[in-house]
Amino acid sequence: MEPVSTTRTFETLVAEMVPAVEAEMRAILQPGSDTVGGAGELYGMMQYHMGWLDAGLQPISAATGKRIRPVLCLLSCGAAGGDWQQAIPAAAAVELLHNFTLIHDDIQDGSPTRRGRDTVWQIWGVPQAINAGDAMFALAHRALYGLAERGVEPAIVVEAARRFDDTCLVLTEGQYHDMRFESRDEVQVDEYLSMIGGKTAALLALCSELGALIAGAGRETVSHYAAFARDLGLAFQVRDDILGIWGDEAAIGKSAATDVETRKKTLPVLYGLAQSQALRDLYGRKENGDNFVAEVVALLDEAGARDYAQQEAARYSSSALHHLEASGADGENGRALLELANRLLRRDS
Ligand code: IPE
Ligand code: IPE
Ligand code: MG
Ligand code: MG
Repeated sequence: MEPVSTTRTFETLVAEMVPAVEAEMRAILQPGSDTVGGAGELYGMMQYHMGWLDAGLQPISAATGKRIRPVLCLLSCGAAGGDWQQAIPAAAAVELLHNFTLIHDDIQDGSPTRRGRDTVWQIWGVPQAINAGDAMFALAHRALYGLAERGVEPAIVVEAARRFDDTCLVLTEGQYHDMRFESRDEVQVDEYLSMIGGKTAALLALCSELGALIAGAGRETVSHYAAFARDLGLAFQVRDDILGIWGDEAAIGKSAATDVETRKKTLPVLYGLAQSQALRDLYGRKENGDNFVAEVVALLDEAGARDYAQQEAARYSSSALHHLEASGADGENGRALLELANRLLRRDS
């Protein structure tokens, strides 16, 4: 008789991990005994953003996002031979950091919708959305120190905190370049790559790096995990660029016009600008005409910009898989990481 397989699938692992991280984050995003009186609404705004409350601050279950960063962290911990439960505080910290960046990013990009709902600044205004983001940034740091309570060695906790702060800085540099590029006519592909390396790939790299670090992996192995997730992050952002132009708004939960309207220098756009004088003329206009977005998309289609960008995403994803192999990731967690990478390359939301 065939032995009964006890290997858990990607879905089973995610179904165990995500609720554990969700519980950790819910415990962190509560007003504490040191909360200054009457500041409950500040926590309400953060809980709204996380998908746990409606705009009237009543409990609901709305879209929470894909939660890929904590999953990446916990699977990497397991694949490197660690106990994923020990890494839960790090998984909560990276997801909170991500959500802080989204609250501020939606202000910076003027985005009215996120995950199919009004953004925090749309409801509470820009100044209070900045406060909600700042509070979540601080709470993300607080979450990380929970590692010490789970028995992670102090030296590893300090290293994790240092890498966490390094990443916050690089991420902000990436956001700085993203905004700067809006008003520049020419951006080179290598400048674009270092911008997305900062705004997106650095955080994904940190997720895997922390997972492997907490598992007690050696320096070389940890750097393979980081390189895997960094390339995965580049592929992820290029796919996001594609969805930001050609995506179905109901599925992505955000506008598929804002990137073009604000002249974002995304990868399909850089390719289109290099190919088409008509697109250069149109993108160079100060005012958007009535059919501006539709005209830009038609020129991008004509230039083959979508296929080019998807091929580039596939190239980064395949490089990610080489690093994954080099990391020695194995078992059900290693296979789940491979599955995650393949799913992200084809994602529609
Ligand atoms: C959105 O990230 C921001 C980018 C880095 C592209 P996600 O697509 O992971 O957002 P959620 O958390 O699933 O909503
Ligand atoms: C992604 O920004 C990176 C961060 C939020 C730090 P984008 O502006 O490209 O992502 P979306 O499309 O708003 O999710
Ligand atoms: Mg942005
Ligand atoms: Mg944005």
